Order: sequence, then structure tokens, then C-alpha cells
Amino acid sequence: MDSEKILESFLNFFKKQGHVVVPSSSLIPDDPSVLLTTAGMQQFKEYFTGELDPVEEFGSKNVASLQKSFRTSDIDEVGDKTHLTFFEMLGNFSFGGYFKKEAITYAVEFLEKELGIKHERITATYFGGDKNLKIESDKESYQELKKYFQDSKISAHGRADNFWGPTGSEGPCGPTVEFYVDGVEIWNLVFNEYYCKTDKSLEPLKIKGVDTGMGLERLTAMMQSTENVFATDIFEPLLKKIKEIAPKLEEKTKRVLADHLRASIFLIADGVRPSNKEAGYILRRLLRRVLAYQVVQDIHTDLFEALFDVVKEKFSGSYPEIEDPIILEVIRGERDKFQKAIALGIKELKKYKNISAKDAFYIYETFGLPLELVRELAPQAAKGLNKEEFEKEFSKHQEVSRAGVEKKFGGHGLLLNTGELKAKDEEELKKVTRLHTATHLMQAALRKTLGPEVKQMGSDITAERTRFDFAFPRKLTSEEIKKVESLVQEVIDENLPMRFVELPKKEAEKTGALFFFKQKYPDRVRVYYAGHSLEDAFSKEFCGGPHVTNTLVIGKFKILKEEAVGAGVRRIRATVEP
Ligand code: ALA
Repeated sequence: MDSEKILESFLNFFKKQGHVVVPSSSLIPDDPSVLLTTAGMQQFKEYFTGELDPVEEFGSKNVASLQKSFRTSDIDEVGDKTHLTFFEMLGNFSFGGYFKKEAITYAVEFLEKELGIKHERITATYFGGDKNLKIESDKESYQELKKYFQDSKISAHGRADNFWGPTGSEGPCGPTVEFYVDGVEIWNLVFNEYYCKTDKSLEPLKIKGVDTGMGLERLTAMMQSTENVFATDIFEPLLKKIKEIAPKLEEKTKRVLADHLRASIFLIADGVRPSNKEAGYILRRLLRRVLAYQVVQDIHTDLFEALFDVVKEKFSGSYPEIEDPIILEVIRGERDKFQKAIALGIKELKKYKNISAKDAFYIYETFGLPLELVRELAPQAAKGLNKEEFEKEFSKHQEVSRAGVEKKFGGHGLLLNTGELKAKDEEELKKVTRLHTATHLMQAALRKTLGPEVKQMGSDITAERTRFDFAFPRKLTSEEIKKVESLVQEVIDENLPMRFVELPKKEAEKTGALFFFKQKYPDRVRVYYAGHSLEDAFSKEFCGGPHVTNTLVIGKFKILKEEAVGAGVRRIRATVEP
């Protein structure tokens, strides 16, 4: 069975049991307390808490998905047979539909009947209770497991192994049942009975929910009788290509390259860009590790360019977003910035007998070598290198560069001032970013309602409101204002992705994106668009950002006032809530 067949049989099995298949959400979650999507349940948090109604949204209380996921915690493990950074997770979910009994039955049936895994190979664990949490052993799951397995095949474990969640600082959580095949963990069933609050206390959830996760790569490895995810059909074409390009590389290095190349492509496709912060830094580490191998191992073919096509060929059927040509541009940008420096950095490393945290930071800043690369390239000298100390150096530097930004903007203490957008801290930055995207949507809605004679004259966005001036010869009627308002809201609620492509100016103009005729633009410009593709986007404009990644986070859009500011120029003030 190849991975596609396995996926198909999973989704079909759950469809037969009344589940609706929901597409994967982005690797960048809406939840600001989490850097990247680590699990299938993340996009469903509000259905578990009852804030959103699954029947209204999906037509069912039960759904299934294949979710793009990324686990930073596994970066150092990549290269063995089972660990990956980016992976795909199969899951079935219920928001008040079914609970432990059905979830366990489905799992056993799928493994044994659909996949044909022999009963003897399967074992299961459940939650044995926790005094500190004041939660008793999960007897209900145990009783259910007993129907299928002898006691010798079932074991109880504590909080570390059999209690899941929350993702981020708070969220649904609960006891788990885990299934193992030949002793390898394969499927995690979480029973969300509690809401874990920021202060770590637990509150019972009103709706009981099921959240399960099973890595497609690991499952495929098992079905293809290999313990090695890199030996499955999922990675086969990637490793084949890497082998062609660099036959002498160690096996472990080839695996790291395959994992990091694939992961970077998926991260960039979802809008992550290399930076020194958060998800951007994770991407930067992946990209630079690949580039460093390329230099150190003297590989002359550009691995990214060569592998991009292979990854596209293998995965674009399910994930058309990875066809975006911006991906290679982002990679080239990082490569061009970094490649010269790394050769110098490798030379520099040879000068050190002992590398301190300060040295490592200097090397990072000057030559762009992340900490783990320093360790990898100079293992002896980096023996005493302490990660916490390195991170301290790192955050010191961030404070300094923030002070730099403030100075740049005239000492008014602004974190961001593009002329159009102003924010004094992270909180305000989030708000103006939402207002900025809302302003794009409003311009599109105005043109749809009033016609293409609407032309932007200027805008000014603070944390309180957006102020948008545009050419139009008369006052708007209250119906028109309502229409614009509700059109913007509709688009927000549709949760459209907000993305950009970077194009030569001439080509960007051809896309039909809005821009200022009078303004001088550079040779290459970004076109931000709200929609699933540039062609049928609701809004497209030349713009430098920043924008939200998905429109839903904008919230409630409201027009406060419409007035004249001159002959033929109207002004609208609008807000977003909360
Ligand atoms: N959310 C659970 C996990 O990721 C199923 O393991």
C-alpha cells in the first residue's frame, strides 16, 4: 500500500462513519500563542470549546483531516529513522458527537480490518490517573480496550505519557489512549474533557471531544514493512535525487537534507519568511543547514533548485500552494545573502579552540551560522557551548535592535512607522496589521459597490482606526455604506488567506492589482492578495505589508463615519473589534 492508498482508506473509512473531510489548515496557525501548527486539532480549538458550531460550519459534529504539521522539538532528532520536522497527520475529530467508546472502536477497526494489521502486533496504553491534577484513572477507556485486548496488551501510564495538551498557553486537553504496533507508537487518541487555563488549572469542558493524530509517514513506514520513514514512497523520490547529486554523503545527512528541503518549501508556501524571530528563525535554521552542507560537502548542484521540482511533483496534488514560484525566490534570497558568509564562517571557526556563547553569537551575527551549525561544524571547540547563554546574547541583541528602530523613527517610541501604519508596541502592531488588511478589503468592496472610479488618495492607520481617503464625486448613501460593511465582513468570515507574490513591476501591473499611478515603485514589487489564488482574489494591491495571514483574525469590521475632505474626495473611518 503506498501512502496515497493509506490516506484514501483512512478518509474513506471515516467518511463511512459519518465524518466530513476538512482540508488541512495553514502551518501558520491563527492562534497567536503557537508558532506553528503542530497538530490536527489546532484549527478546531473553537469547536472543542463550543465557541463555534461544527454543524453550521461542516454540516457534522464529526470530521477527519490530513493536517500539515511541524514539530520544532524534533529538529535535533532528524536523521534517525522516525523523526521529521514537517509531517502530515491523519486525524478524526468529534465535537460532542461521539466519545471514548466509538473512538476506540473506530481505531481498532481501522487498524485491523482496513489496514489488515494482525491483532497480535497491537498494544494500547491509557491514562492511569494523577493525584496532582486530581483526576482519576480513565476507567471508561480501559473497559473499552478490554473488549478487544487481553490485559497483558494494555497498560496504564501517567500524565507525561497519557495526558495531552494544551497547544499553546491554553486550550482543550485530556487523557489519551495510544495504540502501538510492534512497540512503535502509531496513533494517539485524545479525549478532550477539560480546558487547561493559562494558570494551568483545569476546567471541565461543556462538550466532550475527540482529537486523534496519526503520522502518515510513520504509518506508511509500518505498512511498507520498513521502520524507516525515509524508505517509504513519500521520501523515495527525494532521496533518489539527493543520491544522484551527492552519492558520497552519509545516510544521515541525506535524510536531514530531505527533511529540511521539504519542510522549508512547505513553510515558505504558507507565508513564513526567514528572519531572526519565531517561525522565521526556524525556517532560517533549516535553510542555512542545507546551505552549509552544500558548502562543507562541496556539492555544486543547487540542492533547493534540484529538489524543488521533485517535491512539487510529489506533493502539489494535495498541496497546490507549493507550486508558488515565490518559494524559490525566498530561498535564493537567503542563499545569496548567506553563501559567501558561510565559507568565511567555516574558516573563522577553525581559529577557535573553545567557542563561548559570545563567540557563537558573533559568528551567527557576522557569518550567519546558527548555533547548531557551529556545533555540527566544530564539535570539539563547541563542547562547552551553552544554549541558554547563547539565547541570552540573542535577546540582548534584539533589545538593541529594537532601540535602533525607535531611533530611526524620530525617537517617538514607535515600533512601526511606514508612513501609513503606526504602532508603538507588539500589541498595537497586531491591531494595525488587522486594520491594514481590512483597509485593503474595504477598498475592494468600495470598488465593487460604487465602481472603478473609486481611487485611493491616502490612508492612515493607528491602533484605534483606519482612515481611508478616496476619489468619489458624492456622499455615499447609508445603503451603500451598509453594503460595503457587510461585503468586507463576508470576506473576513470566509477566512481567506492573505498572501503576496513578488514580481517585476511590469508583470505586477498586468495582474490587475491596484497601485498609485503617481508613486515611484522599485523594479520588483509585492502584490498582496486576499484569496486562494492571485487570479480570483477578492482584493489585490501593490503593498509592502504587514498583513494578517488569514482574514478571520480581523474580527468584526465597522464603518464609523463617511465624510467629505475636499472636492471629489471622501473619507471613511473604520474599526475592527475586538
Ligand atoms: N493532538 C494529538 C496529537 O497531536 C492527537 O498527538
